[in-house]
Amino acid sequence: MRRNRTPFKTPSRDQSEYTVEKATQNDVDGIMAVAIAAGKAHKDSEAGFLMDDYEADAAEHTEEFKRAASRSRFFYVIKNREGKVLGFLLAYRKERWLRREPGWMDTVHWRPDFDQSNLEDFVLLEKIAVDAELRGTGLGSVMFSKFRDDANEAGIYDMFSETIIGPRPNFAALAFAIKQKYALAGIRYEEHQGRTITDVVYHRKL
Ligand SMILES: CC(C)(COP(=O)(O)OP(=O)(O)OC[C@H]1O[C@@H](n2cnc3c(N)ncnc32)[C@H](O)[C@@H]1OP(=O)(O)O)[C@@H](O)C(=O)NCCC(=O)NCCS
Repeated sequence: MRRNRTPFKTPSRDQSEYTVEKATQNDVDGIMAVAIAAGKAHKDSEAGFLMDDYEADAAEHTEEFKRAASRSRFFYVIKNREGKVLGFLLAYRKERWLRREPGWMDTVHWRPDFDQSNLEDFVLLEKIAVDAELRGTGLGSVMFSKFRDDANEAGIYDMFSETIIGPRPNFAALAFAIKQKYALAGIRYEEHQGRTITDVVYHRKL
């Protein structure tokens, strides 16, 4: 996977180069720039991708990010020293997630041995993206750590995440899932713009 296009850099050990902050309205343009680069019409399996086409539906997604910045407790940006947004992570708490996706729990084909008890609360990591030039250097993991700490502070210890495996697999996201030690919880089929998408549903104790 690494030998082709993905421009891996030496992982940055100096965390002071970056800050992870809660996303605000002022960050939305920077978030959109990262989302547009990661979510094009053409989906690159190896480099990873966001499902939507952010350029084509820019106004709608700008509004979505603005709403999330004002309402979501788990929406982060990672910035460099100059304040440029290099990546973002957006997650929803159970109640909000199930308002967006009613019936989500029932549409997942749960792994038979996945324990669904004790899921009174959870967070679902919905989107994560990093500037294409900086992928594989640890920025996604830095955001993930902040997200995990905040979730724990809110008394939440269960997390879900979905990764597309079909019609086109997202290998970068699958690699990130291995790094973060996500475990397979189930599979879900979702309809997206007239197509059936197959997602792996991951779970992790935070
Ligand atoms: C998924 C994503 C956010 C991960 O962020 P990141 O900053 O690259 O994550 P990290 O560097 O912390 O970890 C990535 C791990 O995957 C590995 N990896 C394997 N293939 C990779 C690839 N094509 N791209 C990036 N990382 C890859 C990295 O080497 C690293 O593991 P390692 O540190 O053990 O070597 C990033 O790849 C991305 O923005 N992709 C595009 C959007 C996307 O696919 N989002 C997920 C769906 S919402």
